[in-house]
Amino acid sequence: MKILLPFSWFLLIQIISVSWVSSQCLNDERSLLLQLKDSLIFDSSSSTKLVHWNLNVDCCNWNGIACDSSGHVISLELDNESINGGIENSTTLFSFQYLERLNLANNFFDTQIPEQLVNLMRLAYLNLSNAGFIGQIPPEISKIRSLVSLDLSGEFNLKLEDPNLEILVQNLTSLKELYLDGVEISNHTNDWWGSLSQFLPNLRNLSLQNCDLSGSLNPTLTQLQSLSVLRLDGNNLSTTFPDFFANFKNLTVLTLSYCDLQGSFPETIFQVPSLQYLDLSNNMLLKGKIPEFPFRGSFRTIILRFSSFSGSLPDSISNLSMLSTIDLSICNFSGSIPYTIANLKELSYMDFSWNLFFGSIPVFRTSKKLAYIDLSHNSLNGSFLSANFEGLSNLSYFNLGYNSLTGSIPWSLFSLPSLNTVWLSDNKFSFQVDEFSTMNSYNLETLDLSSNELQGSIPQSLFKLERLIYLSLSFNFFNGTIELEKFQNLRNLTTLDLSYNNLSVVIFRLTLERGKLPRPSAYAMYVDYSSNNFQETIPLGIGNVTSFVSLANNNLTGVIPTSLCNASDSFQVLDLSGNFLSGGIPPCLLQNVETLVVLNLGRNNISGNIPDTISANCGLKTLDLSENNLEGKIPTSLANCKLLEVMNVGNNYINDRFPCMMKNSSILRVLVLRSNKFHGDIRCPGIDQSWPNLQIIDIAFNSFSGNLFPKSIESWKGMTLNNNAQDHLTFNILDLNKFYYKDTVTKSRKVQMLYSIL
Ligand SMILES: *[C@@H]1O[C@H](CO)[C@@H](O)[C@H](O)[C@H]1NC(C)=O
Ligand SMILES: *[C@@H]1O[C@H](CO)[C@@H](O)[C@H](O)[C@H]1NC(C)=O
Ligand SMILES: *[C@@H]1O[C@H](CO)[C@@H](O)[C@H](O)[C@H]1NC(C)=O
Ligand SMILES: *[C@@H]1O[C@H](CO)[C@@H](O)[C@H](O)[C@H]1NC(C)=O
Ligand SMILES: *[C@@H]1O[C@H](CO)[C@@H](O)[C@H](O)[C@H]1NC(C)=O
Ligand SMILES: *[C@@H]1O[C@H](CO)[C@@H](O)[C@H](O)[C@H]1NC(C)=O
Ligand SMILES: *[C@@H]1O[C@H](CO)[C@@H](O)[C@H](O)[C@H]1NC(C)=O
Ligand SMILES: *[C@@H]1O[C@H](CO)[C@@H](O)[C@H](O)[C@H]1NC(C)=O
Ligand SMILES: *[C@@H]1O[C@H](CO)[C@@H](O)[C@H](O)[C@H]1NC(C)=O
Ligand SMILES: *[C@@H]1O[C@H](CO)[C@@H](O)[C@H](O)[C@H]1NC(C)=O
Ligand SMILES: *[C@@H]1O[C@H](CO)[C@@H](O)[C@H](O)[C@H]1NC(C)=O
Ligand SMILES: *[C@@H]1O[C@H](CO)[C@@H](O)[C@H](O)[C@H]1NC(C)=O
Repeated sequence: MKILLPFSWFLLIQIISVSWVSSQCLNDERSLLLQLKDSLIFDSSSSTKLVHWNLNVDCCNWNGIACDSSGHVISLELDNESINGGIENSTTLFSFQYLERLNLANNFFDTQIPEQLVNLMRLAYLNLSNAGFIGQIPPEISKIRSLVSLDLSGEFNLKLEDPNLEILVQNLTSLKELYLDGVEISNHTNDWWGSLSQFLPNLRNLSLQNCDLSGSLNPTLTQLQSLSVLRLDGNNLSTTFPDFFANFKNLTVLTLSYCDLQGSFPETIFQVPSLQYLDLSNNMLLKGKIPEFPFRGSFRTIILRFSSFSGSLPDSISNLSMLSTIDLSICNFSGSIPYTIANLKELSYMDFSWNLFFGSIPVFRTSKKLAYIDLSHNSLNGSFLSANFEGLSNLSYFNLGYNSLTGSIPWSLFSLPSLNTVWLSDNKFSFQVDEFSTMNSYNLETLDLSSNELQGSIPQSLFKLERLIYLSLSFNFFNGTIELEKFQNLRNLTTLDLSYNNLSVVIFRLTLERGKLPRPSAYAMYVDYSSNNFQETIPLGIGNVTSFVSLANNNLTGVIPTSLCNASDSFQVLDLSGNFLSGGIPPCLLQNVETLVVLNLGRNNISGNIPDTISANCGLKTLDLSENNLEGKIPTSLANCKLLEVMNVGNNYINDRFPCMMKNSSILRVLVLRSNKFHGDIRCPGIDQSWPNLQIIDIAFNSFSGNLFPKSIESWKGMTLNNNAQDHLTFNILDLNKFYYKDTVTKSRKVQMLYSIL
């Protein structure tokens, strides 16, 4: 029978139920909560929950609180509240007898996990991750038998020793989720896997990352039939990975990076129909091949980076219709990239760099979501066509560097709207279409076309890419005259590398006249114009904030302007070598060498004395004044340069004794005095202990007399032949690996030295 209630009744019932919900807060629960709030020490400026607890609102509706139908607090979520104390002796927190859910994650307690937690006998969900708790996990936790989910992950502050892992979980038989990432699990038995399988039959999510665990994956694990998530990253398991994992019907996530896995990874794991996320990265010794994929794969993410996987990729990869991320970088994959990969509609990230792939680039017809493509450091060949990337409106990062691609660059690439970074360096791209007429990729910030065979003048439309931060055109055949002023349109440019082309420049004189700075933009930090055809004199003030400036190997004439001295504050590298500069070294240039790491004025026509003005805080590591017309003595203030590694004054007219002022430069590796007028003994008091790292010393063609001091030569341990002497000394500049400064002293000089000294 159907009872029809009159409308007013209906309304009344609604009103009753609403008011019942809104008045469910029990008085004593409310005062407990307020007591709790009072006892906790928290930062109210970053609190989003406690700070809003307010008597005008039903306490069951307070942020972070949930009640059951009779008004008992069952859930307390005070995660990320900047709480830093007040819990140790709190009796309030542990008085919430009905509590089922407690989340104190992301706080700063800095104390042991309170034992009184054991009072919360209904607790099903306990989350203390990154809460700042320290020390041994108390045995009381193992008595909360109601726990279904336990998260004690953190940053290496907690440990499980006594009780150990087995004792902790012994009675927690209802656990479905266990997260102990970063907990130091020492003192476990060899069969800890066996214990887990035995005690926790319902386990679904298990995360034990960075727990210091070792040992093989025991077959008893197969008992964990419900296992869905297994994360063991960062444990040195030093073992093979067993194939019984292929039998887990519900396995969705398997991550094992940095586990020191060995042997061959079972191919069948790739065919587990439920598996969505697989990360085997950073297991250098782990071999494996990717098998054919079943018709309906669930994979969303596959990460094999930096392992020893090899073989080719099967065409059936296109069966993984949900695949969105695939990272196969730094492996040994070979063969061609299957064209079918271009059918993956969900694909957004693919990194195949540092492999042995050959053949041509796929035509990404339907992968419209692709945002990141890295195919660099392979052996891809053929040409690169607009069809390869047409329609990839989300493409942001595109790297084809270090391949063998030929033909011209399809400039329509630069009309993709989301493009941010393009690396096409180190290929054989040759033809240059007159203009990149369609270059309107206004979001482009990084463009590297270096080490190709591009010819002609620098395309004008480059100057429309206003957001550029990094631009390298080095090692090509660009010619003609560049107008440096135009680079000032690129207001955010920090790196400009035009080195090794055939460019000339006329604008210098103009900027001189107008007193403008010829640095490309206000933010420029790295400017390399070396090995071109720049003429004229060095412009006044190369720039204030420029850290790296090279004008080496051009045809510059005139003197070194003193305006450079003001700028040298911020310089780390100043390279003017290989020009036709004349006049003297401005004394102020050496006065301000606190930040300057490399000063290279070699191969010019510089004359006069080396100014004795080097400041007390000298930070120089390389000083190269070779192949000039310098005379006089080595300045005694060079003693201030205690960090000096390379000192080259060869091929000058310096008339001095052995440079003993440098005996405190204890990390000196290269000393070249060749072809000068040095004279006297090759020894200084104490020098036999001073230069343990010396690798090259060239004193040939001087007028040294007296005995060679064998003891000093013996002590130069850096010179032994099995020393891993490098051809070039490199310095990182600006903490960016890409930028380094190659010193010009090569190994062949070392051989010369051996001749000349013995
Ligand atoms: C935690 O709080 C900080 C501010 O205190 C906030 O920036 C951050 O996003 C919060 N994190 C979470 C997971 O809510
Ligand atoms: C907690 O109680 C113990 C013992 O009574 C005491 O030593 C400790 O100082 C108290 N801690 C705080 C933060 O009040
Ligand atoms: C624990 O809480 C943190 C912060 O709210 C959250 O990121 C994490 O996923 C939680 N853990 C579990 C198992 O729910
Ligand atoms: C290791 O754990 C067991 C079981 O909890 C305990 O009896 C033993 O004392 C622990 N050993 C150490 C060194 O803590
Ligand atoms: C687990 O339960 C058994 C039986 O109740 C008990 O004897 C044992 O002490 C408990 N273990 C722990 C660690 O609490
Ligand atoms: C696997 O997952 C399904 C769906 O979540 C569930 O119904 C089934 O019970 C799970 N199997 C096992 C062995 O836990
Ligand atoms: C536990 O695993 C399931 C997948 O099986 C996932 O949906 C859930 O988010 C995981 N829980 C946590 C807290 O990560
Ligand atoms: C991992 O453990 C093995 C054997 O115990 C050891 O040889 C290896 O050096 C360890 N690797 C790391 C990275 O600690
Ligand atoms: C330059 O960089 C600033 C700060 O990142 C940004 O706000 C500005 O839009 C950029 N200018 C151009 C032309 O991209
Ligand atoms: C630049 O190179 C191109 C092709 O090599 C040549 O045709 C042209 O004459 C050169 N221009 C200049 C100014 O040298
Ligand atoms: C150069 O640096 C000086 C002192 O730091 C500053 O006053 C001047 O404005 C800077 N010039 C430019 C063009 O940035
Ligand atoms: C640069 O100088 C060299 C050596 O003097 C000379 O052969 C060359 O013609 C000069 N280049 C230009 C463009 O003047």
